[in-house]
Amino acid sequence: MSIHISAKPGEVAETILLPGDPLRAKHIADNYLEEAVCFNEVRGMYGFTGYYKGKRVSVSGTGMGIPSISIYVNELIREYNVKNLIRIGSCGSLQEEVAIRDIIIAMSANTDSNVNNIRFPQRNFAPTANFSLLEKAVETARTKGLDPKVGSVLTSDNFYHEDPEEWKMWASYGVLAVEMETAELYSLAAKYGVKALSVLTVSDHFITGEQTTSEERQKTFNDMMEIALSLA
Ligand code: HPA
Repeated sequence: MSIHISAKPGEVAETILLPGDPLRAKHIADNYLEEAVCFNEVRGMYGFTGYYKGKRVSVSGTGMGIPSISIYVNELIREYNVKNLIRIGSCGSLQEEVAIRDIIIAMSANTDSNVNNIRFPQRNFAPTANFSLLEKAVETARTKGLDPKVGSVLTSDNFYHEDPEEWKMWASYGVLAVEMETAELYSLAAKYGVKALSVLTVSDHFITGEQTTSEERQKTFNDMMEIALSLA
């Protein structure tokens, strides 16, 4: 048992899928995993371990934003020896050529958060995906006839921005989309020598103002899940 996770030692698999929403974790356990067993309910942050095509895999919510994902990822790595961490989530596109419902595989993550300024005073760290997970995710997506967009994302501390135009600066540097967790996931994976990848679907668009319907989200969710589960 760690501070925020009530699992016993050995109850969490080496590979874990990490949606932000704990109810998404439950949905994944119910619909994709066999013999799923719940290992955590503390604060409603559900976690389950089961089997996918015979491979043991876990899924847990992380909550939204860097402080929340940081708590769960720290404990999963340090207390439960998790080795492959795959975030599955949504993001807002900053580029014309990245359409609503597209899948983004985050190669690197910029951030407006201060967490890495505290870790690396007067220095810059480049939070980067694990290449073997990234390569496999791209391969799976292409095999399914999908055209994943691979590049950098912005991990922001804010969903509601003080300056509503700030995204344009990131967009002008080729950043594909904004979300709220990947920079910390990649930084912690680097710190502890484990593998991490974020697979994201575009749920809203900063240029066109489009948003996905719940039906569309379900379809792209299934694609994202199949990519993520191929990494187990
Ligand atoms: N901002 C941050 N996170 C998000 C967004 C967004 O616009 N869309 C989906 N996740």
